[in-house]
Amino acid sequence: MEWLVTGGCGFIGTNLIRHLLREGGHRILVVDNLSVGRREDLARVCSFREVAPPSLGRGWKGEAVALVVGDIADRELARAAVQGREVVVHLAGNTGVQPSLADPWSDCINNVLGTLNYLEAARRGKVRRFIYASSGATVGRCSPPVHEKLCPAPVSPYGASKLAGEAYCSAYFHSFGLETVCLRFGNVYGPGSSHKSSVVARFFRRALEGRPLEIFGDGNQSRDFIYIDDLIEAILRAAKAKGVGGEVFQIATHRETTVRELAREVVAVLREAGVDRIEVRHAAPRPGEVRRNFSDITKARTRLGWEPRTSLRDGLALTLAWFQEHYSPRR
Ligand SMILES: NC(=O)c1ccc[n+]([C@@H]2O[C@H](COP(=O)([O-])OP(=O)(O)OC[C@H]3O[C@@H](n4cnc5c(N)ncnc54)[C@H](O)[C@@H]3O)[C@@H](O)[C@H]2O)c1
Repeated sequence: MEWLVTGGCGFIGTNLIRHLLREGGHRILVVDNLSVGRREDLARVCSFREVAPPSLGRGWKGEAVALVVGDIADRELARAAVQGREVVVHLAGNTGVQPSLADPWSDCINNVLGTLNYLEAARRGKVRRFIYASSGATVGRCSPPVHEKLCPAPVSPYGASKLAGEAYCSAYFHSFGLETVCLRFGNVYGPGSSHKSSVVARFFRRALEGRPLEIFGDGNQSRDFIYIDDLIEAILRAAKAKGVGGEVFQIATHRETTVRELAREVVAVLREAGVDRIEVRHAAPRPGEVRRNFSDITKARTRLGWEPRTSLRDGLALTLAWFQEHYSPRR
């Protein structure tokens, strides 16, 4: 299958590419502006050819993976990049609440206009399926479990921009027949996430730097933590399942874990790996974040035939093993 992965040098993108190559029979074009992901991150999972936008029309020879360095706002690049692709997995954009609070404008340009740009290119380029990386942040304040029928009320610019992306996906399905599938990822963790500001990555970074784990607020805020391999399986199924155009799916585990409980699990996993004397301390709560969050994944179970398989303890142990081998503080 011919894939286009925007943001393919990032955490989820590199893991997706690793899985596709393991499965075999795929060719993958990556568009990434390298604002976060790096060539070295992509090189860790595959060998690839770097191509310039003008040569895209002729395709590329040799490697199964090609990288074009560019921004998702670039309309000409988007048009060239979708040529001959069957599936687009749109991962690039602003990825968090805190940057969206610091700069809502840039969050909007990246997440709304960047997504619109790739939807427009995809429908003109006759792409078969468009997978959109959405987030539980679209729903905002509600009593969990979050599910697809709740009326969204985002509490952060990030939630708003991701929701706008979902709205455009719906519009492109109903107006133009482009088979969009929106996946609202839970809190994803796993190998390759050492640059992320998510709580699991922060805990492991700090522990390996010999610093205390830091919990924002009282630690009773909850999240739904999903291991990367389970998430990738959901993306693969969303790319192939029949009759899911225009749909939205919660992709998480249906398990609610407080940050306090997570810290306990992280400390246990660290101890098992011989990292002892971990201090846990509390810091001021952060604005724009919901108190409780976990997802009902019944729809993904029934329509995608998907099931998350990795326990939190196993996933954390696999993540720590990766951090111990690969993590070094970035300059
Ligand atoms: N990781 C999670 O827990 C999580 C949860 C919910 C949703 N998501 C969504 O999944 C997607 C991927 O997340 P991730 O964790 O892999 O993030 P990441 O930051 O590791 O990867 C994103 C990649 O996109 C690239 N990028 C950013 N802006 C770009 C632009 N304007 N043009 C081209 N490339 C650009 C970055 O260089 C990076 O390589 C994002 O859309 C994010 O919002 C992630």
